[in-house]
Amino acid sequence: MGLKQKSADLKKRMREAVKGGGTKAIEKQKATGKMTARERIMSILDNKSFHEYDLFVKHSGVDFDMDKKYLPGDGVITGTGTINGHPVCIYAQDFTVAGGSLGWAHAKKITKIMDHAMKLKIPLIGINDSGGARIQEGVNALAGYGEIFYRNTQASGVIPQISVILGPCAGGAVYSPALTDFVFVVEKVSKMFITGPEVIKSVLGEEISMEELGGARVHCEITGNAHFYAESEDESFSQIKHLFSFIPWNNEKKAETFPKRGPKTRQYKIENIIPADPRQPYDVRDVIKAICDDSEFFEIQELFAANIVIGFARIAGQSVGFVANQPLVLAGVLDVDSSDKAARFIRYCDSFNIPLVTLVDLPGYLPGIDQEHAGVIRHGAKLLYAYSEATVPKITVIMRKAYGGGYIAMCSHHLRADFVCAWPTAEIAVMGPEGAANIIFRNEIKNAENPDDLRKQKVKEYKNKFANPYVAAAYGYIDAVIEPFETRSFLVHALEISESKTVQIPKKKHGIPPF
Ligand code: HXC
Repeated sequence: MGLKQKSADLKKRMREAVKGGGTKAIEKQKATGKMTARERIMSILDNKSFHEYDLFVKHSGVDFDMDKKYLPGDGVITGTGTINGHPVCIYAQDFTVAGGSLGWAHAKKITKIMDHAMKLKIPLIGINDSGGARIQEGVNALAGYGEIFYRNTQASGVIPQISVILGPCAGGAVYSPALTDFVFVVEKVSKMFITGPEVIKSVLGEEISMEELGGARVHCEITGNAHFYAESEDESFSQIKHLFSFIPWNNEKKAETFPKRGPKTRQYKIENIIPADPRQPYDVRDVIKAICDDSEFFEIQELFAANIVIGFARIAGQSVGFVANQPLVLAGVLDVDSSDKAARFIRYCDSFNIPLVTLVDLPGYLPGIDQEHAGVIRHGAKLLYAYSEATVPKITVIMRKAYGGGYIAMCSHHLRADFVCAWPTAEIAVMGPEGAANIIFRNEIKNAENPDDLRKQKVKEYKNKFANPYVAAAYGYIDAVIEPFETRSFLVHALEISESKTVQIPKKKHGIPPF
């Protein structure tokens, strides 16, 4: 065969391979509102940037007549390409080929592209759409998953790892996304669970639909397993591209900087956002928008543990991670879920050289039997650990309440914030004036002729003494009391001068955080 014939042969083989599971299976895929694996890759990556590898890989299964089956690409497409001009590694499971099930060759394709991502120090995107371990391949399929999980763990904190759930992701397969940094889900398309509705029904007699068990909203609102919710696959891909504009390509780089742009001050003005009555709530996201460039805040886990707000924004062109109590929800208290949510985000920012800005307004940790029994001690400690451990620039703004453990946990100087400022409206104390007066003046109030009057008087005394930023300022626990309108310039300056911050940490293999 001459080159011409060999080229024609190559083209024919490629045409066969890219057909995936064939017309019928593709039609079935489309009928459920899903794109094909190849379309998904093309939609995420820059136009014409995709380079595919291992298109001709064959599976090695022999049992159950598998040796007679041709599975194009072994049900997964792998390769490299670019997003916003930057290189990434990507894989997409192809449900049209044996339900995207994972056999040994399928797993080897994935682990090979993961190894590339680590060697090249570029992000990894995994699109999951699979029936799980290929049943016919038995333990080899399980081995494949194990190899993926190990690599996910090695890559954690070195390169960004993104999981997109665009179909079923069942059984142990869920643990690869769970080990990655950000999980994207799509309404009616994503389904994630360890044991499906049928097993639950047969073992426990409980009935539930796939959607109610592990659909997109469930993982965004209830479990916190997913970070970004979208109504469509296209919307999800836009979210991924947007995320990449805020994060660096690996842990040795900083995020790309953008031209400095001011906030949209006509829409977002701090003075108009914070109510005069300190007991009135407000949306802390508006405060973030009043501070950051272009008032553009990219929120993460918006629907989960909404009493804390986390996400990326830019200040003077530089990416920062915001962690902010949300007075609109549960008065912004810390609890089990919000501590988990914030702690993980802080560790992400710290791994990837993204400075942290913390906005404080909280009455403390949420009291109650539920919280105590759910382990608020262990989960709450994650936040202390994450802030204490983080060595990126850390800047804290105390806006109103900073009571008790909440004051310490929300990146106080004691956890090594670099700069802490407070507004004149800040109240920094062990607890709120009512609670404090009831405890320390209990006997006096009980024995008073008019207990209510005395209580009011003692609450007022306590307020005058502690419900302000000046006691903490007198001890140097806050560096400056500033007017709210000065917040952005305070942050811009603090970030500028923290550019080359270095911290010596004690020599150790790793710490033992309260996982
Ligand atoms: C082999 C599989 C498969 C699997 C699906 N297929 N899952 N083949 N191993 N795990 C095949 C089907 O036989 C079918 O082949 C094709 O994929 C499409 O599947 P359908 O069932 O027709 O699709 P649908 O009706 O959409 O249902 C999708 C599904 C269902 C809900 C995912 O296929 C399903 O329940 N699959 C099994 C899920 C599961 O129990 N997986 C194992 C989990 S345990 P044909 O030839 O007919 O087109 C696990 C352990 C990992 O993953 C542990 C790691 C630590």
